[in-house]
Amino acid sequence: MKMGVDYYPEHWERSMWEQDARLMQETGVSLIRVAEFAWSRLEPEEGRYEFGWLDDAIHIFYKYGIQIVIGTPSCTPPNWLVERCPDVLPRDAMRNPRYPGIRGHRCYNSPSMRLYAARIVEKLAAHYASHPAVIGWQIDNEFSLNECHCENCNNRFREWLSKKYVTLEALNQDWGTVVWSGEYSAWEQITTPLGGTTFRNPSFLLDWKRFETDSVVEFQQLQLRILRSYCPDHFVTHNIWSYPMSLDYYKLCEELDFASLDYYPGTSPEKSVSGGYNGALTLDLTRGIKRQNFWIMETISGPPGCWFPMWRTPQPGFIRAFAWQCIARGADTLVHFRWRSAPFGAEQFWHGLIDHSNVPGRRFEEYRRLCDEVNRLSLVLAGSEVIGEAAVLHSHDIYNAFEIQPQAEGMNYFDNLKLYHRALTKSGLLTDVVNTTDDLDKYRLIVAPSLYLLDEQLAEKLKNCVKNGATLIVTNRTGVKNRSNVCWIHPLPAHLAEAAGATVAEYDPVGYDVHTIRMLDGKTYSCSQWCDILEPAGAETVAWYADDFYAGTPAVTVHSYGKGKVYYLGIVAEENFYLDLFDKAAEEAGLTRVTGLPEGVQISIRRKGNSNYLFLLNLTPKQQTVQLNDTYRSLLHERSVGPDVILGPYAVEIVEFVEALGGIPLVATV
Ligand code: GLA
Ligand code: ZN
Repeated sequence: MKMGVDYYPEHWERSMWEQDARLMQETGVSLIRVAEFAWSRLEPEEGRYEFGWLDDAIHIFYKYGIQIVIGTPSCTPPNWLVERCPDVLPRDAMRNPRYPGIRGHRCYNSPSMRLYAARIVEKLAAHYASHPAVIGWQIDNEFSLNECHCENCNNRFREWLSKKYVTLEALNQDWGTVVWSGEYSAWEQITTPLGGTTFRNPSFLLDWKRFETDSVVEFQQLQLRILRSYCPDHFVTHNIWSYPMSLDYYKLCEELDFASLDYYPGTSPEKSVSGGYNGALTLDLTRGIKRQNFWIMETISGPPGCWFPMWRTPQPGFIRAFAWQCIARGADTLVHFRWRSAPFGAEQFWHGLIDHSNVPGRRFEEYRRLCDEVNRLSLVLAGSEVIGEAAVLHSHDIYNAFEIQPQAEGMNYFDNLKLYHRALTKSGLLTDVVNTTDDLDKYRLIVAPSLYLLDEQLAEKLKNCVKNGATLIVTNRTGVKNRSNVCWIHPLPAHLAEAAGATVAEYDPVGYDVHTIRMLDGKTYSCSQWCDILEPAGAETVAWYADDFYAGTPAVTVHSYGKGKVYYLGIVAEENFYLDLFDKAAEEAGLTRVTGLPEGVQISIRRKGNSNYLFLLNLTPKQQTVQLNDTYRSLLHERSVGPDVILGPYAVEIVEFVEALGGIPLVATV
């Protein structure tokens, strides 16, 4: 476990490098990431490679015991390259080039881009393969889909489709191009979604997204192969930028050693509560990418801003608390963005740890404390893993399918994922967020938001989990389509109808209209977005609609299936509904949890052998109290804490407990 910073030697006078290295060493920084945008300095003109300045910088940092991660610079092709090979630039849906000025101006399928990127990566890899300070690589920077419509992308798209479908008949059949005379009679007729019209075939659009992901993966793969061959002892990662995301991060990270995340939680004190929950989801998603610990390659050091008005400065304790949140949810190394604010360029006011004044201030002192703590606990926490007992399922494909066809006003797949995950987090449950294609056997509670694209294979897997005792919660818009984005001709939730013991007789996309559901005990909750009118076939009704023409019909059902049960939620309800539901489901499934957590206080557990480390994070600006069931040793403060743990604004506590025989003895309740 290490503390690092993002450092841009090319932004500073050489005389500052040594001062910076010294201060880093004193502060407890042992790693820097460099060079990910420095192409114009590394290759100032075609074929003239100038690594001397980077060698000098790396040498200085090495002297101070600081290790190096090198970013490959393919996110910023230099102007000479753009001038020489205009096909490097991506083209929009009207086929106009997107000019440089900002980074990311590169088409992943451009042969020139690939050639020149491969060349510089090869030079860098050969040069730094055996440098004792260099430990690994970040490929490119924050990949995303760039919607390029250039000739190369058009050709590659056709190739991709012909490989997938083999014959045009199969493609026409799968996409249902018969609608509106869209049938293709020659491959050349197929283009990327040119022109920007909104009326499109959804099967075509979903394949387009998949093709785009594959283009990025291929572009990365090219660099990865070079790095692996020259630097077999180095790790290779990529810094993803947050969610929701059309690019399939699971595919992107498949062959990388670990995923890295750039994490910028909102700094506004009023929003820190909701921001903390969104952050928890992002971190859990990142851990779920490879189902292992990850790195934070960038995180907040000061007020962000530049192309928007600056955000509030992080309040005292904020930087430290959100850094610990990353570790609590599986980060093994933290790299803060950035050491010092840039005096020039597009991000002058995206503040670093040190301001333009070059005088380390309040935020720097907080960072220094964080470094002390992380370095002190690094051996204890190294090798520990986050425990997840409940799972939330996530899919980029499903996200894309919903983006292509919004289902109801205000209904958003990812926002609903946030809602369910937030309720699980508030309920003090230990939650993983994993890909729908992952193995789910270990989970006793599985929350599966809107499995809109549902094939038999996924349905079978879920049914087996339930047969073996899991509780599965499925929601509206499940089983609507196959993987080609074509509707199943079957009552919803299609392949899960038997397991749910209910079908959807009719639905009402109510959008922002607010409806009410009533439970057996008379308790009511509001709901909106969508109302499935359910027809139980073996399931028991848990909630009924209280209004509209479907008042009195079932809205939520539960069905015993094998050793487990399936809840079907035909609605999207207010948060309290999920808090109550997860409470009940967790109790029935016997899951570990800390109940009665105050708003904005989060828990998680990292485990190594018999030792468990319970993290208690107050991600709010006000004091909060958590009650544990006993007294525990605090790792951070080297004293006993509990049963009452008082957490000041943005306070962090980590307590150790040893697992008793026969289960987790924890924890805390009110
Ligand atoms: C991203 C990028 C960085 C920097 C920060 C701040 O995460 O990777 O280069 O631009 O955002 O904006
Ligand atoms: Zn292109």
